[in-house]
Amino acid sequence: MGEQTQITTTKKIEQTLVFAVNGQRFELSQADPSTTLLEFLRSQTSFKSVKLGCGEGGCGACVVLLSKYDPKHDKVEDFTVSSCLTLLCSVNGCSITTAEGVGNSKDGFHPIQERFSGFHASQCGYCTPGMCVSLYSALVNADKTDRPEPRPGFSKLTVSEAEKSIAGNLCRCTGYRPIADACKTFATDVDMEDLGFNSFWKKGDTDEVKLSRLPPYNQNNATCMFHEFLKKEAKVGFNMASEGCHWYSPISLEQLQSLLQMDEGNDGTSMKIVVGNTGMGYYKELVHHKKYIDLRYIPELSIIKKDQTGIEIGASVTISKAIEALKEGNEDGFNQEGNMVFKKLADHMERIASGFVRNSASVGGNLIMAQRKHFPSDIATILLSVDTMVDILTGQRQESITLEEFLARPPLVSKTVLLGIKIPCWKLCRDISSKTYTKLLYETYRAAPRPIGNALPYLNAAFLAEVSLCKTSAGIALNNCRLAFGAYGTKHSIRARKVEEFLSVKLLNVGVLYEAIKLLESSVIPEDGTSSPAYRSSLAVGFLFEFLSPLINNPADISSFSCDGYNSALLFNDSKIKQNFDQFDQIKFSTLLSSAKQVVQLTEEYYPVGEPITKTGATIQASGEAVYVDDISSPRNCLHGAFIYSTEPLARVKGIKFKPGSSPDGVTTLISFKDIRGENIGAQTIFGSEPLFADELTECAGQRIALVVADTQKNADMAANLAVIDYDKENLEPILSVEDAFERSSFFEVPPFLDPEQVGDFSKGMAEADHKILSAEIKLGSQYYFYMETQTALAVPDEDNCMVVYSSSQCPEFAHDSIAKCLGIPGHNVRVITRRVGGGFGGKAIKAMPVSTACALAAYKLHCPVRMYVNRKTDMIMAGGRHPMKITYNVGFKTNGKITALKLDILIDAGMSADISPVMPHNMIGSLKKYNWGALAFDIKVCKTNRPSRSAMRAPGEVQASFISEAIIEHVASALALEVDSVRSINLHKYDSLELFFKTSAGEPLEYTLPSIWDKLATSSSFYHRTEKLKEFNRCNKWRKRGISRVPIVHPVMLRATPGKVSILRDGSIVVEVGGIELGQGLWTKVKQMTAYALSLIQCGGTEELLEKMRVIQADTLSLIQGGFTSGSTTSESSCEAVRLCCNILVERLTGLKERLVEQMGSIKWETLILQVEVNLLTGQTTILQTDIIYDCGQSLNPAVDLGQIEGAFVQGIGFFMLEEYPTNSKGLVVAEGTWTYKIPTVDTIPKKFNVEILNSGHHKKRILSSKASGEPPLKLAVSVHCAIRAAIKEARQQLHSWGGLDESHSVFQLEVPATMPVVKELCGLDSVQRFLQWTIGRK
Ligand SMILES: Cc1cc2nc3c(=O)[nH]c(=O)nc-3n(C[C@H](O)[C@H](O)[C@H](O)COP(=O)(O)OP(=O)(O)OC[C@H]3O[C@@H](n4cnc5c(N)ncnc54)[C@H](O)[C@@H]3O)c2cc1C
Ligand code: FES
Ligand code: FES
Repeated sequence: MGEQTQITTTKKIEQTLVFAVNGQRFELSQADPSTTLLEFLRSQTSFKSVKLGCGEGGCGACVVLLSKYDPKHDKVEDFTVSSCLTLLCSVNGCSITTAEGVGNSKDGFHPIQERFSGFHASQCGYCTPGMCVSLYSALVNADKTDRPEPRPGFSKLTVSEAEKSIAGNLCRCTGYRPIADACKTFATDVDMEDLGFNSFWKKGDTDEVKLSRLPPYNQNNATCMFHEFLKKEAKVGFNMASEGCHWYSPISLEQLQSLLQMDEGNDGTSMKIVVGNTGMGYYKELVHHKKYIDLRYIPELSIIKKDQTGIEIGASVTISKAIEALKEGNEDGFNQEGNMVFKKLADHMERIASGFVRNSASVGGNLIMAQRKHFPSDIATILLSVDTMVDILTGQRQESITLEEFLARPPLVSKTVLLGIKIPCWKLCRDISSKTYTKLLYETYRAAPRPIGNALPYLNAAFLAEVSLCKTSAGIALNNCRLAFGAYGTKHSIRARKVEEFLSVKLLNVGVLYEAIKLLESSVIPEDGTSSPAYRSSLAVGFLFEFLSPLINNPADISSFSCDGYNSALLFNDSKIKQNFDQFDQIKFSTLLSSAKQVVQLTEEYYPVGEPITKTGATIQASGEAVYVDDISSPRNCLHGAFIYSTEPLARVKGIKFKPGSSPDGVTTLISFKDIRGENIGAQTIFGSEPLFADELTECAGQRIALVVADTQKNADMAANLAVIDYDKENLEPILSVEDAFERSSFFEVPPFLDPEQVGDFSKGMAEADHKILSAEIKLGSQYYFYMETQTALAVPDEDNCMVVYSSSQCPEFAHDSIAKCLGIPGHNVRVITRRVGGGFGGKAIKAMPVSTACALAAYKLHCPVRMYVNRKTDMIMAGGRHPMKITYNVGFKTNGKITALKLDILIDAGMSADISPVMPHNMIGSLKKYNWGALAFDIKVCKTNRPSRSAMRAPGEVQASFISEAIIEHVASALALEVDSVRSINLHKYDSLELFFKTSAGEPLEYTLPSIWDKLATSSSFYHRTEKLKEFNRCNKWRKRGISRVPIVHPVMLRATPGKVSILRDGSIVVEVGGIELGQGLWTKVKQMTAYALSLIQCGGTEELLEKMRVIQADTLSLIQGGFTSGSTTSESSCEAVRLCCNILVERLTGLKERLVEQMGSIKWETLILQVEVNLLTGQTTILQTDIIYDCGQSLNPAVDLGQIEGAFVQGIGFFMLEEYPTNSKGLVVAEGTWTYKIPTVDTIPKKFNVEILNSGHHKKRILSSKASGEPPLKLAVSVHCAIRAAIKEARQQLHSWGGLDESHSVFQLEVPATMPVVKELCGLDSVQRFLQWTIGRK
């Protein structure tokens, strides 16, 4: 059949695409079917609140609410989707609501946005619009339900739903607690007491007062507006042709078959079947398809049909809809077992991806990905365990086969369509009337870095078993079972048939279980190349053990026989069995987070400084109106750049070309070092510069080699992907490790002023020691910034050879200088403007410069604006991140744990250029001095290697030093078999040792608050009592162990001079400029407070009025020079001091400021923390139960902002110590490329109870209005997570030792950073289950 005939069968083509965005009608007659909704919204509309954070469904920054009319039921469905994966053509007839549509500055903000602001739930703000839309959708949907009317002012949402509404959204700044609180304010069952610190009410206010102070919410107005005109557009099916591309929405199987036949003869790549298109999040689109076939309008594929025999689900039914159907049960009633199985399937599906992915992801798409591409599917595993059938259609041939067969077949051809599945309704095989007592058990499992989803599992499993109580032996017999496993590095989910056969008709006992587990070990074997294979196999064992062992009532009976009789005793009422089951239960929390305490002490001395006023601009961040660099509309003729980077660590670059046969679209040119007129400088610091592009020699994998410039960002990215570099590696030997660097003496020089001094006499200290640990080693890896906004810049050529560059930068001044040098033009020809940055954490300092410089270079050469938004993968590859290092230490100590001498040899991997790495020794030693080591000697080498240069990342060197200190303390405690806490206590500084270690920066004796904080925390958080309770818990629980730790930190702060400018305009309004950049840390807010305070001193009016009249404006390097770096946690303080001086002596401006600030250098600050964790010994999963931080902020400039900084930094530290792996291949090329593999903390991985107290330690004449920093130090406190996990593991190893699984040295072990699930499980014993069973058998 010819193409023409086919098209007629798919109805009229060339319809227009009609939809609405925030009430605005859009009608398109042409659209490239590969365009995503995000691309359209960001490039064709004014709605920029949808942010591109990952482009793969993993971050939630792009979430929108999609409203769809269902003509059949005459109702509108509202649900969130990720606009980065949703294809534009698939929104025909839909209404889209972005954060601007939820509320905005012109029409009025929505209470969600106001409450986010008042609860300090927005810092950099890049995640905030997505968060608000996620919550908005939850509100709209809860309020549509027929639940009882909520209390006035609340919605029908529950606390648990409120928390989960943002579970798929990532935030790198806040630590989630304030976001969760803002969400919970809407929940009808919220206890107002549980809501955290906010700017609406004061401590002690009654619930009524609190409610009255919240921006009001009226649930009757919550319904999302769906525009009538769209109802008419709600066509069934929609087809469009555009520039040789087609979008088809067939409305019958016949039409689909014709379309598929039309593609006959092709290799299948020109045509793509789509439903939700979420598969693209995993399998990135590298080819351009000409035809898209949307399956969502084919009735057979959309059915959900239930009868006594089971549930039929069409292939294009979304996972969310499937969950609903499975939970609902059946009007005619499924039997009890059937319902139980369906409910458990639904529960498991709720942990797949996140709500906004499940809302568009189809069940069929998932199974097809599992079948064709070996996707590690959850759905395949759970459905396999319940004998699901699938219907497929190939050409005219329709087949109904088992899911097992479907998965085992060779990858289906592209024209095969999955029609649907049928899940049988399970019931007991045995006849109830035969007086036997039989029960159907069903359970599903998954072990993943994030407990409630948005992370692929290391392994998943589902077990169905029919068990009976055996009359003769009083044991439990297993009649039959189905055991499915998947996602462990297997081609597809499998049934462990041998184990099933072995177990069937067996009386369960320890021996049987042991044999079954042995068999299972040989069935679940990950394929070569899978990460952590032994861990994954051990998970399979752990889960089976968890499923079956509670049923083993009487471990004494090892005999195995078939039961021939059953009685109807109360099988599962047996309390012992229940108790057995309970010991495996994850700690059951009805909500993700329990109430937390934030204690802050407010002072009015410098009013409004010290007030918890809301962050400047937080509401416009929440509505998405805040403008980030990539939100600036593209000037005319704007081009886009993408970096081509090296994949070799050291090689001569012979040439660059595009893959043979490829002709990338829209490419204008390639820019390389040859196009540089000035110096080849991409970034610079006081320690030197880094080339913008590799010249003849590339010095690391990830180094920039060229910039491809194209008409769109998508085309530039695609072209960069197609680049092939010709290398010559002859006679070049890269340095890829610090050991290599040491051998080849490849080091960066550390200037004398940054070379820290040794303390005391090491040899003498060692001589005094009773015990020594010699040459112990620790290795630490890197961490990626994961700012939500990746690196970005826009360069616009101006008259007379000038260049204006909008950059997302923490130090525009240095970017300015690099640009001028690279372009070979005077500094006054360049202007760098930075308004706000979507998260920096150090990564937008040096690493942002090459992005601005490359755009400027391209713009200069091409005489047109050039912009770049670096994609997440490239950003991760180039970022460098935190410094990895190798530490070797010798430590001497007394029998009571007092350390007398410590020597450290540290090799820091700085990468290919110096960046800021020479400051590392200084930073590290400052932090290491938190304990009195007696004598402290060190040799720190900053190694030059062929890896991307490492840069500053929040608390650079300091967080590692904090870890090293604790690791040494732990080692000493283990060696002496002492409690770690007592070793910590005995090594805390007294004032005299503090003076010895810190010299003048030790401050006055009275300022040394650490010992008092240390004791205060022990009392306020009942440390000793909790330690006792924890010991009891560990005694009673075999498979869960808890650990607790209390750690101190000390943080030397440095202040740098920063400029400020305060102008009073004719109308009395005030404009403030500061050198510091607003990164989300609340700098502008503090600056406003300080300006208001200072101006009020010179009688300029009331401070509240002043705050209203004031605007802090974007940084502009020609307006305010020498802005410096926004880093080191103290830029807010410096900027505040600068504006204070401006206000006091408006004419004198900066004179004298520098000297003043230099004098203020070097004060130190203290914090301490107690942390309690629970480790699941079967999976290695750690839950942080409670954190109690006491933080000395001096006198906080704004306690709300500081609280946010403390929590946010701490959670970033949790990421470093528990979750974030930043691996590279053997060439040093980063292989973690996005949200699939790089796991930052989410709302379900933060402490369940997160208590923070900001201690107001009063005056300090050398600090700015007595404030101490809050941006970085708390990150170091997160080391306590590691210490507490270690304590729990120690308990587990002690137990394993008692089972004969470990030798006497079990208490001395290294816990890697990050302590991921595989790492923890390995230390707890990969074979702990087998050991336990052997031990149990041996005892009989
Ligand atoms: C961020 C994220 C996290 C995820 N986490 C998990 C997880 O933890 N566990 C898990 O199991 N899954 C997970 N997934 C996978 C998700 O379930 C699938 O992407 C989704 O179900 C695919 O459905 P879709 O409708 O979007 O398919 P599409 O993307 O539209 O299609 C996927 C593929 O299947 C083909 N296809 C679709 N339907 C049919 C059909 N009926 N017949 C023939 N071919 C068809 C398409 O041509 C395409 O090749 C995750 C996905 C994302 C984006
Ligand atoms: S950008 Fe869409 S989910 Fe991250
Ligand atoms: S505020 Fe959430 S990412 Fe910055």
